[in-house]
Amino acid sequence: MPFSSLVILTGAGISAESGLATFRASDGLWEQHRIEDVATPGGFRRDPDLVHRFYNERRRKLKAVAPNAAHAALARLEAAWKGDFLLVTQNVDDLHDRAGSRRLIHMHGELLKARCLVCAEVHPWEEDLGPGTMCPQCGVMGRLRPHIVWFEEMPLEMDTIYEALERCEVFLSVGTSGNVYPAAGFVEAVPIRSRTIEINLEPSLVATAFKEHRLGPASVEVPRIVDELLAQGS
Ligand code: APR
Repeated sequence: MPFSSLVILTGAGISAESGLATFRASDGLWEQHRIEDVATPGGFRRDPDLVHRFYNERRRKLKAVAPNAAHAALARLEAAWKGDFLLVTQNVDDLHDRAGSRRLIHMHGELLKARCLVCAEVHPWEEDLGPGTMCPQCGVMGRLRPHIVWFEEMPLEMDTIYEALERCEVFLSVGTSGNVYPAAGFVEAVPIRSRTIEINLEPSLVATAFKEHRLGPASVEVPRIVDELLAQGS
């Protein structure tokens, strides 16, 4: 069987075992902060310092965590896969990047990047952001924002993503609750005959749209399905 075209979607659940909080668990990020205060353009306009503190804390946390077996397995799959391959993540952490994934789209942006509101330049950014931060490109101070896609904003590279979805033969979703569109609708965009597999701790809100379900931790289920896909070549 030739290597089919593969699209993988990941959410916060794939990073949970690395120690990064998900959003909608009982101890999730949205239990500690109101989305409208820290993840909307209006929230940033109202209180930029609060938003910078929220993302500075999450950016600093990245230095203390590492990719887990699920991230590593997806990088191994990409390296060995002979067909088309695209990994789309909703996550803004750099764990897929550090695990070695390359054909990777961060559709909700990245914690380790900052965007200038004056010249629109996007810069790699590891340190804190704040009112005193100067744009390396245009020199204006205090007009840098996290390069994160907030609610009410358009996710990144959607054309490339839909192009891949519309011709994929295997769609695998890992660790996402199906709460947020457009990602939650990706499974509906793949060809009717495609294999669709959901890996999650519990069924997501869109679980019924998937043909196959594997309930369990990503660090166990992802390496398992990667071995299967590489053995079958499809
Ligand atoms: N293994 C597999 N799945 C897990 C694990 C694990 N170890 N731990 C948690 N999960 C599952 C949960 O059951 C849940 O269904 O991961 C999912 C995480 O859901 P959310 O917290 O809603 O995160 P996500 O789906 O990525 O959120 C999507 O919403 O707030 C926005 O922009 C934000 O990108 C985020 C988007």
